[in-house]
Amino acid sequence: MDRFFLGCYMQQKEGTVPAFDSLLSEMKPARIIELGTGAGGLSVFLGIYSFATGCAFYTYDNLPRDRNYGELFKALGVNRHVCDIFANEKSIKELIAADGRTLLLCDNGNKKAEFNLFADALKVDDIIMAHDYFPERPPPGTSTDSCEIIYGAIAEVCDTYNIHPYQTDLFTPLRWFCGKREK
Ligand SMILES: C[S@@+](CC[C@H](N)C(=O)[O-])C[C@H]1O[C@@H](n2cnc3c(N)ncnc32)[C@H](O)[C@@H]1O
Repeated sequence: MDRFFLGCYMQQKEGTVPAFDSLLSEMKPARIIELGTGAGGLSVFLGIYSFATGCAFYTYDNLPRDRNYGELFKALGVNRHVCDIFANEKSIKELIAADGRTLLLCDNGNKKAEFNLFADALKVDDIIMAHDYFPERPPPGTSTDSCEIIYGAIAEVCDTYNIHPYQTDLFTPLRWFCGKREK
């Protein structure tokens, strides 16, 4: 699952960048919040999108693991936070809940916990995504992709907050859950 975007390393499958490009063009979010900067390549892509469109972009990681992209993040106006997301629940929820559509990407070390924690802050038409997702746990030996979250782990919160799977044909093969909060 290792890829490069303009030379920047990201832990994503091939096809992820065009899929996000298509989602972003359609959604036109006011802000993107990435939980889990990791190596930083996806953040560079999202940072360029944000720079070009005026969308705000926030990325969080408890460790500065990126491959020396700090200067690039600064040039692109990326709001980079090195902190534990679970210790910053209130401020992250305030960002999600602010005016305008939010795209929330759950890609940290505990996708199930972060999805279930932050979903209640979403507004109608906001989109929440979670990486390393399979609809159901794959039988042993059938996939080399990591499975860190399945629909059963988020079904209750999706039901409670009216979050419906969205663009599944595009995102499920890329190991992303994509859900839109509806009325
Ligand atoms: C899979 S990587 C992110 C990959 C990145 N989004 C990409 O596409 O290349 C997960 C990151 O989550 C971070 N992480 C784990 N637990 C965290 C926490 N409690 N708060 C903030 N970041 C955390 C790890 O340090 C790691 O860099």
